[in-house]
Amino acid sequence: MNSVDFLVIGSGIAGLSFALKARKYGKVCIITKDTAEETSTRYAQGGIAAVTYDPDTYEKHIKDTMVAGCELSDPEIVRITITESTERVKDLIQWGVDFDKTKSGKYDLAKEGGHSEFRVLHHKDETGLEIQQKLYRQAKEDSQIEILEKYYAVELITQHHLGVIVTKHSTDIHCHGAYVYNPHTQKVEPVLAKCTIVATGGIGNVYGNTTNPPISTGDGIAMVHRAKGLVRGMEFVQFHPTALYHPTERPAFLITEALRGAGARLKLLNGNEFMGKYDSRGSLAPRDIVARAIDNEMKISGDDHVFLDARHLDKVIFFNHFPNIYSKCLSVGIDATKDMIPVVPAAHYSCGGIYVNQWGATTIENLYALGECSSTGLHGANRLASNSLLESLVFSHRACIDATKKLNTTSFQEGIPNWDAEGTVSNEEMVLITQSVKELQSIMSNYVGIVRSDLRLQRAFDRLNILHRETEALYQRSVVTKQICELRNMVGTAYLIIREAMKRKESLGLHYSTDYPPK
Ligand code: FAD
Ligand code: SIN
Repeated sequence: MNSVDFLVIGSGIAGLSFALKARKYGKVCIITKDTAEETSTRYAQGGIAAVTYDPDTYEKHIKDTMVAGCELSDPEIVRITITESTERVKDLIQWGVDFDKTKSGKYDLAKEGGHSEFRVLHHKDETGLEIQQKLYRQAKEDSQIEILEKYYAVELITQHHLGVIVTKHSTDIHCHGAYVYNPHTQKVEPVLAKCTIVATGGIGNVYGNTTNPPISTGDGIAMVHRAKGLVRGMEFVQFHPTALYHPTERPAFLITEALRGAGARLKLLNGNEFMGKYDSRGSLAPRDIVARAIDNEMKISGDDHVFLDARHLDKVIFFNHFPNIYSKCLSVGIDATKDMIPVVPAAHYSCGGIYVNQWGATTIENLYALGECSSTGLHGANRLASNSLLESLVFSHRACIDATKKLNTTSFQEGIPNWDAEGTVSNEEMVLITQSVKELQSIMSNYVGIVRSDLRLQRAFDRLNILHRETEALYQRSVVTKQICELRNMVGTAYLIIREAMKRKESLGLHYSTDYPPK
């Protein structure tokens, strides 16, 4: 494959749902750097927020999204997303996704932090797995869609590769596809596309403790930034309040917020509840508030975790709705019906990302960004729980409408050079990469985590500069590997998070600084 109508980078909900729509209009090639099913999507537990029945309304869901986002969300984008939610959920059902129902045959809706109504459609506590499997199956069986596993997108191709100077001020940057590492030839090859879709997911691995799988290394965000596309809102990194405390495990196993929605409560190690001190919504306050409260309580007590107490929940409901959590806890010696579950916050979701308009289009022509790597304006300063699977679906649908309009008038770019690997050598010392990853994660967790300050951010920035210089030098002299590219992308992503955090001279939503407001 060296040219294709639609090149989709990523096989999570964003990439797959785009492909399943675009297939009617042209050939689609999905590349994915791991197996096609290893995505963040697969691990989603709680479900997908959408307005289904009375007494819920679009207006209520819109309000909850705006409040969670600290009114920084784009009201037009919020309205689009929420009012299109019902149709997009129907797409999922049509692709075979099975959401749990009650005995009466109605969908069993769950509640999560910041939601004023029960509105989260779910498949037990494994909603993501259900979505990933059903969408992947549809795509795999489709002759218009090719899926290439273990192919790694290294760079986007723009006129920069034809020798034209491109800067962040250029207004006419065009994307012509991507340079992709082919595991069979072990070479980086140009893949030309009329339309390129970045659907590369999140950034969690920039931090020491994360719920994200290893694939979430900010590749798409860093690539678009290098190609001079606009990236924004990166200071708003969401920490999930309740990841299972099990220090040797990476990624951290999530304990879904839906468990708090079902009545589980946060407690200190002495058994006292504490959320009432921080917010009248208690354990079900929006995530930024709950994560910060836990962080604060852990700092006061010196404890390594707090507890989530689900012992009082109805056992039948627990086993039916949360079988995955029950068995995971049991596997580490915790019977969640008898023992409290030790939990800590963990880096979970990037609310910022590649700027896109209401059609999923980036600031680069013929380049779209979908899913977690994008910044549509939906989440503002803090994402409302279970709004991200929804966002992926809404904007994949919209991007398909926009992209297909341009397909017939776009041709494959000629003259794109082969990848220049001259002078590069194999990197014999993996420690040069692994140690830098550890340093990066430590800098980000300690200085750019849930609570920040000007001094911490400056320290992080200075230390990152050293890592940046070393990583660029290593990248320039090394034969391309996934490991060196991921390190480079994580350093690039961390730079964007710190840069945006340093610019924001206030505490807002997920960006909380002890320096603001000034005392
Ligand atoms: P992903 O599903 O992460 O897919 C990214 C794809 O890009 C992968 O195929 C990856 O291999 C590929 N890729 C990345 N870089 C490259 C590269 N350089 N070259 C080639 N391929 C590349 N959201 C909700 O709305 N509800 C929930 O209940 C929920 N629960 C969650 C639970 C967990 C544990 C986690 C981690 C997240 C949860 N989220 C939830 C968030 C949500 O799952 C993600 O935001 C969403 O699935 C992201 O989908 P995506 O398609 O953008 O990216
Ligand atoms: C969860 O199930 O708590 C995660 C939901 C989300 O991240 O949207």
